[in-house]
Order: sequence, then C-alpha cells, then structure tokens
Amino acid sequence: MMDAPTTTTAAEHADRIEPGAAYEPGEEPDGEGKEPRITGRASADALLVRRTLTEIAPIADKVTSYFYALLFVRNPELREMFPAAMDTQRDRLLKALLTAAEHMDDAPVLTAYLQNLGRGHRKYGTQAAHYPAVGEALIGALVRYATGTWDEETEAAWVRTYTTISQIMIDAAAENEQTAPAWWHAEVVSHDLRTPDVAVVTLRPDQPYPFLAGQYTTLETPWWPRIWRHYSFASAPRPDGLLSLHVKAVPAGWVSGALVHRARPGDVLRLGPPAGSMTVDHATDSGLLCLGGGTGIAPIKALVEDVAEHGDRRPVDVFYGARHDHDLYDIDTMLRLQKTFPWLSVHTVTEEQGRLPEAVCRYGPWNERDAYLSGPLGMVRRGVDALRGVGIPSERIRHDFLTELAPAATG
Ligand SMILES: Cc1cc2nc3c(=O)[nH]c(=O)nc-3n(C[C@H](O)[C@H](O)[C@H](O)COP(=O)(O)OP(=O)(O)OC[C@H]3O[C@@H](n4cnc5c(N)ncnc54)[C@H](O)[C@@H]3O)c2cc1C
Ligand code: HEM
Repeated sequence: MMDAPTTTTAAEHADRIEPGAAYEPGEEPDGEGKEPRITGRASADALLVRRTLTEIAPIADKVTSYFYALLFVRNPELREMFPAAMDTQRDRLLKALLTAAEHMDDAPVLTAYLQNLGRGHRKYGTQAAHYPAVGEALIGALVRYATGTWDEETEAAWVRTYTTISQIMIDAAAENEQTAPAWWHAEVVSHDLRTPDVAVVTLRPDQPYPFLAGQYTTLETPWWPRIWRHYSFASAPRPDGLLSLHVKAVPAGWVSGALVHRARPGDVLRLGPPAGSMTVDHATDSGLLCLGGGTGIAPIKALVEDVAEHGDRRPVDVFYGARHDHDLYDIDTMLRLQKTFPWLSVHTVTEEQGRLPEAVCRYGPWNERDAYLSGPLGMVRRGVDALRGVGIPSERIRHDFLTELAPAATG
C-alpha cells in the first residue's frame, strides 16, 4: 500500500469510524425486526455538520478532488471499483454523503434512501470493510478545507454522522444479501429501433428479477465497464420473466448510445436491484393521472398494465408528450391499450400544442387523482408545480426522481 498523503490528522480517525458505533447503548443494531434508528443526538450534530457544509459549499470541487485523491492514494485497491474516467458524475458519492449528513434529522426519509443506496452498492462490490476508508477520506478532506469551522466537537459530530450513515447502508446490504444477488446478468433477446434514436430493448435476466410496475433498474453495458445508468421498466412484471426498456440515445450519451446503436440480441448486460417509489397504491381506488414525456411513457405503460391486472377499473388518464408527432414512438401501443380498457384515456401533447404540464391543466378536474410523472427532469419539475397548482396535494404526486435525495431533484 502507498503512503498516505501528508495530512496525517485524518488517519488518526481511522479507529473511530467503526460500524455499529451509531447506536445508543442498549440498542441492538441488528436485532430481529428492528429498524435502524437515527439517534436524538443527530439534531445537535446536524447543526455542526451544516456549519461545515456552508463553509465548504463554494469550494465543493476542490473538496471532491481531494476526497478522491485521499481515498485512492491510501487505498489503491479501491480505484478499480470506480469508472476509468471519473467524469462529471464523480461528485455523486461525496454529494450524497454531504446531503445525507445535512438531513440527519429527517430520519424516515433518510433511512429509506440510505437503505436503498446500501443495497445498490452491492453491485459495485462494496464490502462493509470499505466504509472506514471512505469515512477517513471524507474527514481528511474536511479537515483540510473546513479550516474556519473545524474543531474537536465538529469532528466528533462528523464521525458520528458518517458512522450512522454507513451503518444503515451496511445493514441494508447485509440483509439484502440473504435474499438477492448483488447484480443480475441479462441477455438482450430483442432490439427494436422505433425511431432513429429510440430503441425498445427486451432482456432475459439470468435469474428471476422481482420488481414493481413503475420502478427502474440500474444497468451496465459491456462497452462502458463500471458506468451505471438508470432505466425504467416499460412493462409490469410478465409471466415469462422478460424485462423491457425504452432507451433514447442522447447526444454523445455513453450508455444510451451503446444501447440504441450497438446492442444486439445475444449481448449480455448487468442489472442492479430495482428501485423507485413511483408505484401504484392498490390500497385506494382513486383515479390516476399520468404524465409521460419521451421515454417517460415506459413506466407509465407499466402502471397502466398494473392497474389492468388488478382489475380495479380505476379511471386512468395518460398524457403522452413529445416534441413532434413522430417522436410519439409508442403511441400505437397506448392507443391499443385505450381500446381494450374503457377506463383508460390517452391524450397526446406535442410541442406545437404547448408544454405537457400546462396542457394537462386545461383538462380536469384532477384534485381527486393520484398523479404519476415520468420524463426529463425539467418536465417533471414543471409538472409537479402545475399539479400542485390545480389542487393535487404533494403526497399524492409520485415521480421517479423522488428517491434521489439531492435537494435539486426533489422538485
Ligand atoms: C430514475 C431514472 C429513470 C430513467 N429512465 C430512463 C428510461 O427509461 N429511458 C431512457 O432513455 N433514459 C432514462 N433515464 C436517463 C438515463 O439514466 C441516462 O441518464 C441517459 O440514458 C443518458 O445516459 P448516457 O450515459 O447515454 O449519457 P451521458 O454520457 O451521461 O451524457 C452525455 C451527454 O448528454 C447529456 N445528457 C444526459 N441526459 C440527457 C438527456 N436526457 N437529454 C439531452 N442530453 C442529455 C449529458 O449532460 C452529457 O453532456 C432515467 C434516469 C433516471 C434518473
Ligand atoms: C456512507 C458512505 C457512502 C455513500 C453515502 C455513498 C454514496 C454513493 C452514491 C450516491 C453514488 C452514486 C451512484 C449510486 O446511487 O449508486 C455512489 C457510487 C459509488 N460508490 Fe458509494 N457511497 C458510500 C460509500 C462507498 C464505499 C465504502 C464504496 C467502496 C469503496 C463506494 C463505492 C462506490 C462506487 C464504486 C460507486 C460508483 C461510482 C460511479 O458510478 O461513478 N461507496 N456512492
């Protein structure tokens, strides 16, 4: 192993970043049926943590670079778990850490997010023993850059916070290990180019892949090792176990370009676990209002199939938006579904007719509906605002950016 960089202060914390230390005395960290709990001290710690965050916000880029430099110099064996090119996405790990630290006092949201993140880390090959290394690099980067606010008390707060965060991730991964593989291999069984840049890709996973309509997967192609991207399932779970995705090749897009222009039957991809909370609540019979922009129609189609399978006959209105008529690549399927199910109405909105969220508001009333939005982030954000504006309460609006904790993505 290489020598650590000169900032030795951080190395001293190695022994304090220990899984398990986040629990109050007397608590059973892995007791049967016990939910991980964020302790009362979290609120006081959150104040100190936020103070550090305010200080480093203007120099976040430097902190990120230094964090990775420390991590890889001290633990060169970890480098190969990360993508070869640490591009613009490289700040995701640190950003999530910092955002999670900031939200320590919002326990239920944070816990669900971190459990999902911990399960998802199994596909990277992350082990419990790797967490202290990341924690030390974090503290090392903060010691170096948060010089104005750093003191013993702040440091203790960060160590406790990181320990709590990592323990939730570690526990969720360990529990998941009992029932699910770290990843699935999936063979491309068909590839249907619907427009010059949209393909419907059908996959056969190597073992059963349990998911709910409306959820998405993470996917790695053989052409871009260790580069993972999210794709929504375009159908509810099928009896034959096949999975289908709608992929749009974005300009210069690494993974989407490969999936649309290169993937062929016989190619084998890797899938991470299913994620996402844009699923149908079958405990109610309220109607659904669905907005799908571009390939965002994929999970909406899955939701329609899900409602049909439950035989609920709940009214469902789907607004399908795209730039031009010819971009509505799945309109035939949607119209066929509309013909089959009298409770389903499909409306199309192209750019000439205006923006999708505004178009939806011309119809209605929608205030009794559960709303589902999927598509480009801008559309989802405007859609959430528009639907709140016509009286749908926030808790009845679901979209696939919900599971991202970053403040910018929560709409
Ligand atoms: C929850 C979730 C579900 C998703 N489901 C789907 C899905 O079902 N189908 C699907 O096709 N995509 C979906 N995406 C988007 C997908 O995960 C990738 O972001 C997308 O395929 C681009 O990845 P890439 O590697 O090809 O592009 P990158 O290499 O990441 O990006 C290349 C360039 O394109 C830009 N870019 C990235 N995205 C877009 C965009 N949408 N339009 C224009 N420029 C862009 C980037 O800023 C960059 O400059 C989903 C995303 C999320 C978060
Ligand atoms: C509390 C600790 C950690 C947090 C909050 C965290 C958070 C994140 C987040 C948000 C991502 C972005 C992709 C995703 O959502 O999966 C990510 C990616 C990743 N993490 Fe972690 N992580 C932590 C610890 C670790 C550890 C201990 C390892 C193992 C060394 C690790 C390895 C990776 C790898 C390899 C990636 C993929 C990198 C990429 O796609 O650019 N993480 N992490």
